[in-house]
Amino acid sequence: MSLLSDTLARVKPSPTIAVTTKAAELRAAGRDVIGLGAGEPDFDTPEHIKRAGIAAIEAGKTKYTAPDGIPELKAAICEKFARENGLSYTPDQVSVASGGKQILYNALMATLNPGDEVVIPAPYWVSYPDMVLLAGGTPVVAETSIDTGFRLTPEQLEAAITPKTKWLIFNSPSNPTGAGYDHASLKALTDVLMRHPHVHVMTDDMYEHLAYDDFEFCTPAQVEPGLYDRTLTCNGVSKAYAMTGWRIGYAAGPKALIAAMRKIQSQSTSNPCTISQWAAVEALTGPQDFLADNVRLFAGRRDLVVRMLNEAKGVTCPNPEGAFYVYPSIAGLIGKTSAGGALIKDDEAFATALLEETGVAVVFGAAFGLSPNFRVSYATSEAQLEEACRRIQRFCDGVA
Ligand SMILES: Cc1ncc(COP(=O)(O)O)c(C=O)c1O
Repeated sequence: MSLLSDTLARVKPSPTIAVTTKAAELRAAGRDVIGLGAGEPDFDTPEHIKRAGIAAIEAGKTKYTAPDGIPELKAAICEKFARENGLSYTPDQVSVASGGKQILYNALMATLNPGDEVVIPAPYWVSYPDMVLLAGGTPVVAETSIDTGFRLTPEQLEAAITPKTKWLIFNSPSNPTGAGYDHASLKALTDVLMRHPHVHVMTDDMYEHLAYDDFEFCTPAQVEPGLYDRTLTCNGVSKAYAMTGWRIGYAAGPKALIAAMRKIQSQSTSNPCTISQWAAVEALTGPQDFLADNVRLFAGRRDLVVRMLNEAKGVTCPNPEGAFYVYPSIAGLIGKTSAGGALIKDDEAFATALLEETGVAVVFGAAFGLSPNFRVSYATSEAQLEEACRRIQRFCDGVA
């Protein structure tokens, strides 16, 4: 009898680990490595939020709480959804977990039976397909293309839906592309969903507050109120408030689903960290003005990276609406050879050669389900980004 479960055998180890491990090895060997792989803001949690965490410790708010969140945080979340998204929820429609990741995982665990399908537009955040597999479901990947700005078209969504479809996972702005759906492009998708009443929507709105230029964030239940009863609107404080390590994510949706997620959490991790919950209350109810400063900073970095990558030979880099990623195509380099003699047979070979020959670490597109591309996170200083892009340009110049 095998010690490990059959379910685990269906799940792949993270394909991003190879690049991360290699980057760490090179750094340990004294190489000058610039990491463009980070999925988190490069600045600290704002002072007033840190102080709220410290105050919680000092006030002895260090005990267990209700498994899916303190009433104060649930109230703050209801207020956030009303204020920012025009969505009305009551506290018994809200769940708080240890990060957005646990929210999504709980929801899938609570709902999937063997054979249930989950539509995942590609490129996707690496965890979606494997979380679906762990929960016993079947991921159905719907590939988008660079020509539509990596946005799923209504036709592609229609084609992916079958009688077995339980969920669509919808992430805007997206990790890894930064692509965002405006009201019209989202409405086109919700119109399709309205024709398929058995399909539910799990949104991943993690990057809501990282949206640039005149792009206006919107979320499915807001765009199509007819979907309210079959939408789980997921969000969190990790990215907008630079709180990745505090581990707080949340969601709002149908009461029965929220109760099922609570049951899973009560038998697994119990409540998310009590101190972090109090800090999250401050994040959601305290001053929000620094968000606009961060957006300006990130938009400037995005402009720099998009411009410099488009100047690199064989690279095409769309200008995304949000998040802190770009997802350039390297179609123009496939089948050629780098100056260091590496055959660029696919995007993984590109990322490996780029790291070995220039010390720039990026994540290859196959990890996100759409090739040939690579993901750059621009959550690092302008000086580092400029140097990294210069090295990428030199590397691409040397490919022949
Ligand atoms: C699209 C997306 N969803 C969810 C998460 C998970 O967020 P958290 O750190 O709150 O678990 C991430 C983090 O990288 C993400 O990029």
